[in-house]
Amino acid sequence: MPAPGRRDVPTKLPAQLLLLLPLLLLLGSPRCVGAGVGAPAELRVRVRLPDGQVTKESLQADSDADSISLELRKPDGTLVSFTADFKKDVKIFRALILGELEKGQSQFQALCFVTRLHHNEIIPSEAMAKLRQKNPRAVRQAEEMRGLEQLHMDIAVNFSQGGLLSPHLHNVCAEAADAIYTRQEDVRFWLEQGVDSSVFEALPKASEQMELPRCRLVGDRGKSCTCRYGLSLAWYPCMLKYCHSRERPTPYKCGIRSCQKNYNFDFYVPQRQLCLWDEDP
Ligand SMILES: *[C@@H]1O[C@H](CO)[C@@H](O)[C@H](O)[C@H]1NC(C)=O
Repeated sequence: MPAPGRRDVPTKLPAQLLLLLPLLLLLGSPRCVGAGVGAPAELRVRVRLPDGQVTKESLQADSDADSISLELRKPDGTLVSFTADFKKDVKIFRALILGELEKGQSQFQALCFVTRLHHNEIIPSEAMAKLRQKNPRAVRQAEEMRGLEQLHMDIAVNFSQGGLLSPHLHNVCAEAADAIYTRQEDVRFWLEQGVDSSVFEALPKASEQMELPRCRLVGDRGKSCTCRYGLSLAWYPCMLKYCHSRERPTPYKCGIRSCQKNYNFDFYVPQRQLCLWDEDP
């Protein structure tokens, strides 16, 4: 891909684009970032969460590893991270949930959810690496709400074998070694791709999980139940925008479309006390 230089900026911007400009992240030259060749590029933005609160989000792209990672801290202190590994068709969600010490909870609990990455879910890492901050103070609100995805996580991932699924797993899920979950349908796909089956482990009572009660309905802290954890990717570049110019024969990349997406993960916990956040509202 030719590196876009200053000369490529059209002298007459389309009117629609001009209106957007204060908020726009332009696809600039990778050299402006100040990072060395191959070093991950980072973008820091302020974003509005679904509940209206504002938080900081960091997005990193590594075009050599062909991966993107996103991290944001929720107002309650939970650290949510998302990693897209395009090389392995894997996406990893991780939540570091702070315990409430007055409720006798340990300092934090880590969860990892691993599912198949489809390549149209987020822009390519190479494009992500070129995004530039135009207005760091702007609070970004996603242009498109992608709705809620409900995922039933019915398989466990063996942490020590996790590198066979994605090289990112060891770093991202280290704190969640005993709580890495995935789904049968994704496992089927990865096995077809040649991933070793030793990565995946059946969860106890896998077939009965659907009948296990939701943790919020279970009084006994020692009982197994189906836990739910919800998280939101508040703002991420989900599509490339293309512009037309008289000087160019074909449309060219000139910006991004941003999306927000919420996820609910349902997963087995052997004890109700591993799911203390799942309570009646
Ligand atoms: C994970 O895999 C390793 C190597 O196959 C095995 O020794 C270990 O027992 C597995 N861990 C669990 C929790 O099953």
